[in-house]
Amino acid sequence: MRHNAQLFSDFLVIGGGIAGLTFAIKASEIGTVTVLTKAGSSEANTAYAQGGIASVWSVDDSFESHIEDTLRAGAGLCDRAAVETIVREGPEAVRELIRLGTRFTRVETEGNEIDSELEYDLGQEGGHSHRRVLHAQDLTGREIMRALTEAAAARPNIRTLENHVAINLLVETPSAGKPGACWGVYALDRNTHEIRKVISRATMLATGGAGKVYLYTTNPDIASGDGVAMAYRAGASVANLEFYQFHPTCLYHPAAKSFLISEALRGEGAILKLPDGTAFMKRYHPDAELAPRDVVARAIDSEMKRHGLDFVYLDLSHREADFIKRRFPNIFKRCLSFGYDLTKGPIPVVPAAHYMCGGVQTDLDGRTSIPRLYAAGEVAMTGLHGANRLASNSLLEAAVMGRRGFNSAREIVASGGGAPPEFPEWDPGRAIRSEERVMITQSWDEIRRLMWNYVGIVRSDSRLGRAARRLQLIKQEVYGYYWDHLIDSDLIELRNLVEVAELVVRSATARKESRGLHYTIDYPERDDTKWLHDTVIATGTPLAPLD
Ligand code: FAD
Ligand code: SIN
Repeated sequence: MRHNAQLFSDFLVIGGGIAGLTFAIKASEIGTVTVLTKAGSSEANTAYAQGGIASVWSVDDSFESHIEDTLRAGAGLCDRAAVETIVREGPEAVRELIRLGTRFTRVETEGNEIDSELEYDLGQEGGHSHRRVLHAQDLTGREIMRALTEAAAARPNIRTLENHVAINLLVETPSAGKPGACWGVYALDRNTHEIRKVISRATMLATGGAGKVYLYTTNPDIASGDGVAMAYRAGASVANLEFYQFHPTCLYHPAAKSFLISEALRGEGAILKLPDGTAFMKRYHPDAELAPRDVVARAIDSEMKRHGLDFVYLDLSHREADFIKRRFPNIFKRCLSFGYDLTKGPIPVVPAAHYMCGGVQTDLDGRTSIPRLYAAGEVAMTGLHGANRLASNSLLEAAVMGRRGFNSAREIVASGGGAPPEFPEWDPGRAIRSEERVMITQSWDEIRRLMWNYVGIVRSDSRLGRAARRLQLIKQEVYGYYWDHLIDSDLIELRNLVEVAELVVRSATARKESRGLHYTIDYPERDDTKWLHDTVIATGTPLAPLD
């Protein structure tokens, strides 16, 4: 393992999903940009997005309506200023995606030329009182990634380093009570095993979510919460991590790896049913299948527990087969490959961990509590989502905040940026090569299973207590192993997973009420007198490794 190379650019972007690339493309107009992605360029949560991006688009819709829907879903914890700003800037962010080449699905006009930007097909999803979800059939994320990666590749100021895993942020030592500034990151090149310092004047953290902390998740493998763990270790404030969103409907099949069945199916009339065909959502919420996601996921969980089921059914077969195949071609094909024909009958579905509503706290310019460190997208907590994210508001937030983050980070570079201090080379000490993968895989499985069983859709003090005690032990073991062995991407992820799991448990334990995505049987009511505030965990001091 070599440790000597150093790279420099004006801006460093850790993460190449919608948030990171939106920022990078803007930043390349005024400076050099390095984008790190821990796997291939197309491997990001963004690429898996199905339903689409929510934005006020039709003349029947209004900002006030989108704002109200977002606030309602957020169960009292949204920051109104964040909601107003992000919703109002949504259409411009979407237009930018279109300018960069994203092809959203148009309404069908029998072969006529389409000349108006209003003529995009708008999907309907839970919690939205209007159709306002722009989509590219049911592969919206893949289309956005195609457009953004092509746009980034065409800009000579952007250098993308794939298979580079950020390990730790390079942060100056705090002085006189002020936090030290961030000047980049140590990153592992997975191909050469080299650890490099990647130095920059402004760093944008855009590492996405942490679904991998749970046993069952809709997220791809990259989603191990690295950004939250790195920022927290560096002393940044993180918030609202108890609000982990479970998507109500993933295909239930051993080989399907939690394949998402988009909420847009329920938007087009799909009904949740028990094995005997009884629809049950009306008993839980007047909006039935289109209730906010926390309500639907909890209802399914409760029906599964009540009847001892492994899954419930989702049925869209009452809609025309042609419509289903045209509107959801990818989902139709994937289900068929597992033996389920959406046009002919119901398909089995279960909830799975989907989206991290909390994250690294930022202001509305993407600033974190660490100077020169910005965050945007799923890794960040702006205040938009509160206790529960409204469907398709995530791509919206990432697109808007990628732009806003650049507008504030540009000031640093435009004003000269200052000279980076000297940071030491990565020192492996006396670490030896790891020979036993089982030391990593066992801890990994334990964390994901205990998070699923004890810190899932329904929680209790005793389950959270068990989770905390076990995590403490696993953390000691993981840290011991981490310092004694040469690191690789699995070990980096494992350390981050255990830290994020611990932060989720600490946040969930602190909140003695039920609100939005956090439901505990010990405090089943929402309590606005005591808990109408974010759960902020601010270290100020980096986490000390346990011995
Ligand atoms: P990501 O797109 O996840 O990108 C993260 C990037 O960070 C990747 O490039 C990754 O390689 C990199 N990275 C991570 N860790 C490191 C590290 N240590 N070092 C270097 N690089 C690192 N939202 C919606 O609004 N609408 C939808 O329809 C929708 N559907 C979804 C469907 C699925 C199946 C999933 C999983 C999510 C969906 N979401 C949807 C949520 C949404 O896709 C994500 O929240 C959003 O795409 C996150 O974008 P991002 O840019 O923050 O992160
Ligand atoms: C979906 O298509 O159901 C996902 C939408 C989202 O996560 O916002």
